[in-house]
Amino acid sequence: MKTVFVLNGPNLNLLGTREPAVYGSQTLADVRQLCEQACATHGFALDFRQSNHEGVLVDSLHEAGILHVQGALAGVILNAGAYTHTSVALHDAIKGTGITLIELHISNVHAREAFRHHSYISPAAKAVMAGFGVPGYALAVAALAGMQ
Ligand code: DQA
Repeated sequence: MKTVFVLNGPNLNLLGTREPAVYGSQTLADVRQLCEQACATHGFALDFRQSNHEGVLVDSLHEAGILHVQGALAGVILNAGAYTHTSVALHDAIKGTGITLIELHISNVHAREAFRHHSYISPAAKAVMAGFGVPGYALAVAALAGMQ
């Protein structure tokens, strides 16, 4: 059984109370439950993580890279939060591991402030999703199933 990594970056631990008009009222625990259901539907194991620290996210991408080399990774769904717009290190980790990665944003970043319009993740990602809300995570799992 292949594993789907779902990695969430800074401030996503605050989902539910953080700017609900932008991100909705569901919590990160709700997101995890949704991902568990979606992975069960598609026959994937789930590794679900959140960190506020860039280096920890880089380490998680490297762990996903090891599974990738072993043929045991379905792909990675990464909501890098604000690091999307700043992190060359995350870009390099995706390129360096060769993993299949979907960049995901709960909100439509392109309809928001200009500083959210540029992503260091997008050029290294297989696909990009924004604005589907929390249900986007389940859509991303289904998309990975279609890529196997
Ligand atoms: C986000 C969008 C980012 O611009 C922001 O910094 C986040 C969340 C989203 O899911 O919509 O933390 O990635």
